[in-house]
Amino acid sequence: MTQSVKLCALEDIPEGEIRGETLPDGSRIALYRVGGTVYATADKCTHGEVSLSEEGTLDGCTVECSWHFGTFDITTGKATGMPCEVALKTYPVELIEGNIHVVV
Ligand code: FES
Repeated sequence: MTQSVKLCALEDIPEGEIRGETLPDGSRIALYRVGGTVYATADKCTHGEVSLSEEGTLDGCTVECSWHFGTFDITTGKATGMPCEVALKTYPVELIEGNIHVVV
């Protein structure tokens, strides 16, 4: 069963920034705001124990992990640069009354 989880206000995420949040099951999620659109992926790099919201750099729709410079497409979660090969989990994002919700 899926549920929509309210995480923060849209205005809490500056354009071009990454914000970390915690889901009800305790897992961490990264929210990215690009061109007015918010995308959501799992927060942990699939190559190591790194928080992308804390250690990642966002360039357009690409997040780069600062540890080994692997990259992901935040719109699909796909790994786009070595050494990352496993995709990030992505989450549908809904904007409801100015608040960011993700479907989990
Ligand atoms: S831990 Fe992220 S690229 Fe290696």
